Amino acid sequence: MKKALPFLLLLAAAACSSPAPKPAKSYPIVDSLLKVMTLEEKVGQTVLLTSDWTVTGPSMREGYLEDIRAGRCGNIFNAYTADYTRKMQEIAVNETRLGIPLLFGYDVIHGFRTIFPINLGMSCSWDVAAIEEASRIAASEAAAAGLHWTYSPMCDISVEPRWGRISEGAGEDAYLGSLIAAAMVRGYQGDDLSDVRTVLACVKHYAAYGAPQAGRDYNTVDMSERWFREFYLPPYMAAVDAGALSVMASFNELDGVPATANPHLLQDILRGEWGFRGFVVSDYTGINEMVMHGYAEDVEDAGRLAMNAGLDMDMQGASYMDYMVGLVRSGKVRSSTLDAAVRRILTVKAELGLFDDPFRYCSPEREASETLTEANKAAARKMAAESMVLLKNDGVLPLQKGRRTAVIGALAASKDDLLGSWRGAGQVEAVPVSIADAIGEVAPVVYAEGAKEMGEDRSGFASAIAAARKADQVVLVIGENCNWTGEAASRSSINIPGVQTELLEKLAATGKPIAVVLLNGRPLDLSKESELASALLEAWFPGTMGGYAVADVLFGDFNPCGKLSVTFPRNLGQVPVYHYAKNTGRPYIHPEAKYESRYLDVPNEPLYAFGHGLSYTSFEYSDITLEGDSRSEPGMTELKGDGALTATITVTNTGSREGTETVQMYIRDLVGSVTRPVKQLKGFERVTLAPGESRTVSFTISAETLSFYRQDMTWGPEPGSFKLFIGGSSDNTKEADFNYAE
Ligand code: BGC
Repeated sequence: MKKALPFLLLLAAAACSSPAPKPAKSYPIVDSLLKVMTLEEKVGQTVLLTSDWTVTGPSMREGYLEDIRAGRCGNIFNAYTADYTRKMQEIAVNETRLGIPLLFGYDVIHGFRTIFPINLGMSCSWDVAAIEEASRIAASEAAAAGLHWTYSPMCDISVEPRWGRISEGAGEDAYLGSLIAAAMVRGYQGDDLSDVRTVLACVKHYAAYGAPQAGRDYNTVDMSERWFREFYLPPYMAAVDAGALSVMASFNELDGVPATANPHLLQDILRGEWGFRGFVVSDYTGINEMVMHGYAEDVEDAGRLAMNAGLDMDMQGASYMDYMVGLVRSGKVRSSTLDAAVRRILTVKAELGLFDDPFRYCSPEREASETLTEANKAAARKMAAESMVLLKNDGVLPLQKGRRTAVIGALAASKDDLLGSWRGAGQVEAVPVSIADAIGEVAPVVYAEGAKEMGEDRSGFASAIAAARKADQVVLVIGENCNWTGEAASRSSINIPGVQTELLEKLAATGKPIAVVLLNGRPLDLSKESELASALLEAWFPGTMGGYAVADVLFGDFNPCGKLSVTFPRNLGQVPVYHYAKNTGRPYIHPEAKYESRYLDVPNEPLYAFGHGLSYTSFEYSDITLEGDSRSEPGMTELKGDGALTATITVTNTGSREGTETVQMYIRDLVGSVTRPVKQLKGFERVTLAPGESRTVSFTISAETLSFYRQDMTWGPEPGSFKLFIGGSSDNTKEADFNYAE
């Protein structure tokens, strides 16, 4: 027999009592529950266990089902579909003593069923509104399948191309990364978390997971507090500020302390400085791993350290499940500490509306009608095109429709690789076309595999060369396969794998111009390819509609507009290389000098700078006009105290096609109490211009724009001279000077 929802009775009881004042939003149901929950039931709310997936769909281990029934597990991840989550929820609501609903989480990283480009790709669109929309679509599809919670946005800044997970983030820059992180949270959570088309966001991996030594996943992270706060921390903060109500602790240690039990991260910064009021979850068995880190004696000790540091929920490690009751009974964890964790988790469940209707998200109807819709696919196709970066073009692109086209490369025929890593519930069956198929819809295609993306097999070279010889135009698709990026996919080389570059060499030797399309999830060493290819289009892993989007760009139906959100080095030896580097005491200025900060074998400049990206049209920039508070000396504009400076530039489309340009603003503080980057992104604006059209773009510069962590670690500006740069790439800018006076 079904029980009445017990929490409804508790809600009525709570209305009569007077709850203690709470700093954040409070729900009477949470107070009531905390009063009646046993210690075991409280611990159950801090436990997150995985569901499995078999040929017949999602399934739950029998032992875990028992745990749910007994109130030992309050949260599930990796399970979806409206029917399945309803079944699980029925167990929690009807068969447990208090009927507390389960929370269902999943990695919805760049789409749920409709897969958008990988996140690094999306960040190259610099189209923050479109990224917000992509997240909104992902949330609505996921929520219809019964999910409440996505493990996204991934806010890890990275300058480390060896690291496979650089593909999941927004690149190297904290300013761009912060705007994207906040947009994703808004897209997922909307204005109202209880809306059935929204999901709870999870800010991960907190913190600095993107800086593993030597680029090896899960490896040690160590950097100064100043560097951490200025270049790594801002996107996490932006996501929390945007209202994210959960945070995932990262696997790595920082300054010797694993993030999972790091009071500086979890208490001082997250809850103290930022006022975060949601809950913190560990990463997958992150608590247990503190034993291997050499930070905890055993798994019990790890649970003690994590809970006492402010980590509320244990993902899959069962440390809390097995030991927390004992830890509280023995006084090693205060019951008030556990209560605070449980309160945070239950409060989020209340915000999701789960106590009002635990089944509100499970909707087979919405799942069927609002998933993979034409509108969602159109958004994914546009986003995929916007994310592509035209790295090089000597005029071979755009290709002409109707001409004989040789399409070469195993990746050109792959639908699976288009989806990239962490593809949510995206299925290859939903991918309408491969790149070769899509090209085949606009031109007669001869396809030749030529080379696989891995391995040494050259047996396909001859037929690929023959196909190229007979064709009017040649497209070669090369790169990494989708398993070579993402988690646990670090590489010690950033070259294109296998014999793909050798194939390019052979094809180029035919004398035909070769348009190369790249599928990959990290900055690669393209030094050879950039010489051999006539055009290089970085297409990342472009998602469900990626085949069409590549053809849209190749044949000029979409004019490419992506700009790199991460620097492409000339070779691995230059790594880390990023646009906000310092000048050093011996900057490389003189070509013949030896004792300057330089390499003997390659220039200091990367192959493709941050912000770089070409178009089929061209843009011209006027000089910068600066208007400020006063003129301190002839020609020198001054910004004073709380005033503002307006920097204006006119951008003209000097080509013959409409195009979108991302106008970027960078700043340099010439002298500081600590040294400052030679260029730092501080603003950008995307403008779409018809041929011949000009547009004036203005940026406002205030004291906040100039602020940084000064020598005493206070945040603020310092008076002095500044340089301003505005242009279409970090290495192609106009300059102006100004002063700041307090
Ligand atoms: C990853 C997380 C992910 C979690 C759950 C971990 O291995 O580091 O990013 O959210 O698994 O799938």
